Amino acid sequence: MVDRRPLIAGNWKMNFDHLRAIAFVQKFAWTLKDAKFPTTEVEVALFPPFTDIRSVQTTIESDGLGFAFGAQDLSPFESGAHTGDISGEMLAKLGCRYVIIGHSERRQDHHEDDAIVSAKTVAAIASGLIPVICVGETSDDLEKFGASAVPVGQLREVLTALKPDAEIVVAYEPVWAIGSGQAATPKQAQDVCAALRAVIAEEMSPEAAEATRVLYGGSVKSSNIASFLREKDVDGALVGGASLDAEEFAKIVQFPRHVIA
Ligand code: 13P
Repeated sequence: MVDRRPLIAGNWKMNFDHLRAIAFVQKFAWTLKDAKFPTTEVEVALFPPFTDIRSVQTTIESDGLGFAFGAQDLSPFESGAHTGDISGEMLAKLGCRYVIIGHSERRQDHHEDDAIVSAKTVAAIASGLIPVICVGETSDDLEKFGASAVPVGQLREVLTALKPDAEIVVAYEPVWAIGSGQAATPKQAQDVCAALRAVIAEEMSPEAAEATRVLYGGSVKSSNIASFLREKDVDGALVGGASLDAEEFAKIVQFPRHVIA
């Protein structure tokens, strides 16, 4: 049995300038230190906007805080005439470990389809980054096809482009649960995360499915995180709004302390 260390990821979306980012990281780190929470138990990853990444990197590295960090998007191209884009290599050079790909807000605002998500995932892996591949159904999809058909289809399309040994993270984020205060139930999250793991087994390998972390995202808070992480196939969370409050996010990270047996 592979040990999938829980990953708690904070997606800041388009919030915080670089000065507020530094203040946030310091306050968050102090809060965890005060609580004497062993940061080795859970992997913490922060996803600031591009303009904050260098500041977050230097704060984490100079204070030896041990948090991972990453970007919220990247270009599918390596370099060249792509005004406004940021390459995987640039992110890797800044010490990014992860990059979020295919978030529903990118799919909506920038019309990113599965082919683009797939190309970006390939580009991330080629740059040595671990893609956090986001999938999820809208409320219309949920009504028409049920919960897992759309996310499973989205993931399958991406996985067909990857080598079987590629390191990835998958995030199941039902679009209707994002920013709505209406999280999925732990059982809903478990069912879809299990279906996603089965697709990884089919398209990559059973070993990859065992080793890959599948996260849940959508209205995660300190009051519901433990109920998700109790589920067998939920290996962490991708947190939006609640990751912008240092104390609340520190409570989320400390979920092992409030997992009810
Ligand atoms: P909320 O936690 O604000 O619902 O956002 C989830 C999300 O989109 C994380 O990527």
